[in-house]
Amino acid sequence: MPLTAARPTTALALDLAAALDPVRFAERAGIVPDSWQATVLRSTAPRTLLNCSRQSGKSTISAVLALWTALYTPRSLVLMVSPSLRQSSELFRKCADFYQALGRPVPAGSETALRLELENGSRIISLPGKEATIRGFSRVSLLLLDEAARIDDPLYLSLRPMLAVSGGRLLAMSTPWGRRGWWFEAWQGAESWQRVKVTADMCPRIAPDFLAEEKRVLGPWFYNQEYLCQFAETTDQVFAYDVVMGALSSDVRPLFAPAAGVAETGIEGG
Ligand SMILES: Nc1ncnc2c1ncn2[C@@H]1O[C@H](COP(=O)(O)OP(=O)(O)OP(=O)(O)O)[C@@H](O)[C@H]1O
Ligand SMILES: [Mg+2]
Repeated sequence: MPLTAARPTTALALDLAAALDPVRFAERAGIVPDSWQATVLRSTAPRTLLNCSRQSGKSTISAVLALWTALYTPRSLVLMVSPSLRQSSELFRKCADFYQALGRPVPAGSETALRLELENGSRIISLPGKEATIRGFSRVSLLLLDEAARIDDPLYLSLRPMLAVSGGRLLAMSTPWGRRGWWFEAWQGAESWQRVKVTADMCPRIAPDFLAEEKRVLGPWFYNQEYLCQFAETTDQVFAYDVVMGALSSDVRPLFAPAAGVAETGIEGG
């Protein structure tokens, strides 16, 4: 068969492969995913927590997943939330770079520094976290929370309902930031999240020599948090988390009776 006759079939097969498998898609965008990145890309878990070392590649993989979702699921809404404007710009830029590297396979209807709207009706929107301004999005197909440990509880709670109608997927990725906040509680808790932990030694791009130097310079508290994914006690904490949790008991009646109606939540009235 002449080469030219084979080309459309090959191109179609490649497109199908990328549409069906986000790992193949990442490769076409120029990234060979690490094994944990491939696991996350191929996961169908509705809720995923990524507890990852600094520089392990969490933002990169969420940018790939955002783009794959928007390109191959028409009319999807991908929302990426980061604590600050700088971080949301950086994350969006990764998406835009992959989109460019892939040759903009679906044309853009409009594109700004934080937003890409495709002609298939999909949107990728990257936002800095402010609870007051972020409300109003609904039917979110994919919600990506970057630096999730630094996204505060009220914002997180206001984001979750955006998945209610769409049945969308939630990925919350971070390096730990002390034993506090919803992301720490989710990692420790009993809710059925897919939990993926990636320490620095699992990242092929971080050299052992560099890690040894970081350990010396940062000291154990920071090093364990930044590179070994450990939840350190916060430096301004008076009592250790485990001491506080160990002191709680359901056998002790509250000193003051709860307000009427609280019993409905399962907490015994006085
Ligand atoms: N699979 C991969 N192959 C090659 N390079 C990669 C891969 N994954 C990530 N990188 C590169 O590693 C660097 C760090 O990636 P990224 O910014 O995604 O990490 P991060 O975990 O979000 O870092 P931070 O903790 O600073 O937010 C970037 O230069 C990125 O391009
Ligand atoms: Mg990052």
